Amino acid sequence: MQIPGKKIVLAVTGSIAAYKTPQLVRLLVKAGAEVRVITTASAEQFVSPLALATVSKHPVHSNVNDGAAWNNHVEMGRWADAMVIAPCSANTLAKMANGLCDNLVCAVYLSAICPVFVAPAMDEDMWLHASTRNNIQKIRSYGNHIIPVAHGELASGLIGEGRMAEPEQIVSYLNNFFLEQGNLPLKGKKALVTAGPTYERIDPVRFIGNFSTGKMGIALAESLADKGADVTLVLGPSQQQVYHSRVSVVRVESGQQMYDACMETFPQADISVLAAAVADYKPEQVAPEKIKKQGDTLNINLTKTQDILASLGAIKKPGQLLVGFALETNNEMAHAFSKLKNKNADLIVLNSLKDEGAGFGHDTNKVTLIDNSGEHLTLPLQSKQDVAAAIVSHILEIRHAEKTV
Ligand code: CTP
Repeated sequence: MQIPGKKIVLAVTGSIAAYKTPQLVRLLVKAGAEVRVITTASAEQFVSPLALATVSKHPVHSNVNDGAAWNNHVEMGRWADAMVIAPCSANTLAKMANGLCDNLVCAVYLSAICPVFVAPAMDEDMWLHASTRNNIQKIRSYGNHIIPVAHGELASGLIGEGRMAEPEQIVSYLNNFFLEQGNLPLKGKKALVTAGPTYERIDPVRFIGNFSTGKMGIALAESLADKGADVTLVLGPSQQQVYHSRVSVVRVESGQQMYDACMETFPQADISVLAAAVADYKPEQVAPEKIKKQGDTLNINLTKTQDILASLGAIKKPGQLLVGFALETNNEMAHAFSKLKNKNADLIVLNSLKDEGAGFGHDTNKVTLIDNSGEHLTLPLQSKQDVAAAIVSHILEIRHAEKTV
């Protein structure tokens, strides 16, 4: 995350999407930003200033002056590292395009010397109207950043374009912007990450799966993207959502589909991290109809799936870095070392199910990193995001060491 310590002015204008702004403030604050909220008068019909003041921990202003006190819009515009106008109504958009200044939001906007991000929200017909198109073009030409609208259900009840981007997407957009300004050691590099479980079908209603949630692999994909890599995330059946503009998600179900997606992407990948819990065996045959209950026992013949990590290890070229995981319950180090060798990986991330708070389903993890130097590094129990960041730092160290050999 690049947001910690950033000062953000959030301007809320009159749109039904304003009800999502307390959540947006909460996410920004959670990411480490300091947030000051200003609103237009009509925004207050959709969201309570008290809610926004509570989550931002600062008073919310909507007038250029509160009684005898003047709200210094110039100071606020200069204080901020970023101004975010979310939701931005068609009315405010039109004012911004034409330099009108009849409220605090417009005054801060005109005074802001920081980057300004606009998350429009309106019904599709308004969004597609020629004057709105024109206004968007104009404010873009002034150097403002437009956060793309989403497609979905609108206040009118119609389905179409014009929904405000979700708070998570706005935070991710800002994070990426700050990242691009910062240091990006993996800029221009491509990464492949696998995550989640696989489902191996038995019949049309049953499958063999496992308890993987995909959280660790997703955190790794986001961490690599945070360092500038363009990431292809091949994700098995997982409930998790992924919001990162540099992560493109390929959703798959079975080990075979994951294998096919990886084989396609791997030749271009500089870094590949295989965090998925791929089934080792699948039913030899998938029954075309639901298997009916019959005798006291049921035998299903299983056959080996393709080992994706080993297959990629076999075709790995110099300069490609391959990382695998090892989930073990006994003799952990020995098993992990043999996976490193047998699968021709450069790094194995060892998870022991003996460690409390580690492995499937938890938000935390405790891992040991084993590479070809013969050394190993045991990390403390920490959030999966922090584990991911530590793994990515280790990957950067290995790449650096290879270049300097
Ligand atoms: N893996 C894979 N394809 C498979 C099985 C595993 O790519 N069909 C990868 C996993 O993503 C992980 C690594 O291989 O990066 C090790 O997975 P793990 O299940 O721990 O090891 P296995 O090789 O399956 O051996 P075992 O289950 O006997 O421990």
